Amino acid sequence: MIDDAILTAQLGHTLDATHFEAFDDRGPITKYDGKVRDCYIDLARQERILVITDRLSAFDQVIGLIPFKGQVLNQLAHHWFEDTKAIAPNHVVAVPDVNVTIGRECTPLKAEFVMRAYLTGVTSTSIWWAYERGARTFCGHPLPDDMRKNEALPAAILTPSTKAAKGDHDVSVSRDELFAMGAITPAHFEEAATIAAQLFAHGQRRAAERGLILADTKYELGLDPTGRVVVIDEIHTPDSSRYWYADDYEARLAAGEEPRSLDKEYVRRWLVGEGGYSGDGPPPPLPDDVRVEAARRYIRNFELVTGRTFEPDLREPVARIAAALRAR
Ligand SMILES: Nc1ncnc2c1ncn2[C@@H]1O[C@H](COP(=O)(O)OP(=O)(O)OP(=O)(O)O)[C@@H](O)[C@H]1O
Ligand SMILES: [Mg+2]
Repeated sequence: MIDDAILTAQLGHTLDATHFEAFDDRGPITKYDGKVRDCYIDLARQERILVITDRLSAFDQVIGLIPFKGQVLNQLAHHWFEDTKAIAPNHVVAVPDVNVTIGRECTPLKAEFVMRAYLTGVTSTSIWWAYERGARTFCGHPLPDDMRKNEALPAAILTPSTKAAKGDHDVSVSRDELFAMGAITPAHFEEAATIAAQLFAHGQRRAAERGLILADTKYELGLDPTGRVVVIDEIHTPDSSRYWYADDYEARLAAGEEPRSLDKEYVRRWLVGEGGYSGDGPPPPLPDDVRVEAARRYIRNFELVTGRTFEPDLREPVARIAAALRAR
């Protein structure tokens, strides 16, 4: 595991944002800033250059910068896209830099495909939030009475959410509500739902092989230029998923303790706990020790999932990324 001194030294060298104007010999490029990814859209090549920054988002806002998060996340997503490409096609065209994925530009389906196997979460879209407030159906799925937080659901369920406009919160909805909103066609929904269920079952098996539990995850899917449904954005990362250690999960559940997690839930819990954050308005600044601990967890996730030691790229990222994109 990486030295703490390297993580601490990196606190002042995180990748915050990029501001590329153009890349040599490419046509005009439009930029779109997501919360985590800077997107450069190359219409001529029908490609989306995704620069995965060190920004961490929670409660639909950018919360802070985590050392090496972009590198870790991008390489994890790449690992999982490779690992799952026989199950479902994905958008990846190339990964020319540790912080960059070039994806086929797709039309995103207007729903997020969330698969859940456990009764958990802290935000208002989470299944635990609804259950705690008395809900016994969630996104159209009936839920048993007397369940405890973090318990396994009887079976994994698909709990779609809407894609809110920037700054708004997503909302969990049933498939019929999505159809009533006209967000997606039934045919696209069914295809995406099948893909999500297959990917999730695979991810859960892989996680179990590594001593982890993949508790839930969110997929984004889109239509590629030929009209095929493909997985876009990222997959099975600690930003889009909850990962718990399997070995002490049962003991902690029995003791009423939270599972040990290897994902950004650590930061969400810090925000609502020590940070005193309610989920709305400007979040409190993340202290350096929380940023370092978050980095440790992202890196630990990478090392357990890939079986490789994380080797940080310490070169100045903006110049390095520009050179990698020019060289393509
Ligand atoms: N291959 C692709 N084609 C089209 N859009 C994509 C593709 N891959 C990712 N995206 C979109 O690019 C953006 C990636 O940025 P990021 O994940 O940081 O955004 P976000 O903050 O989660 O979402 P948003 O800002 O859109 O609410 C997302 O809007 C995602 O849906
Ligand atoms: Mg995203």
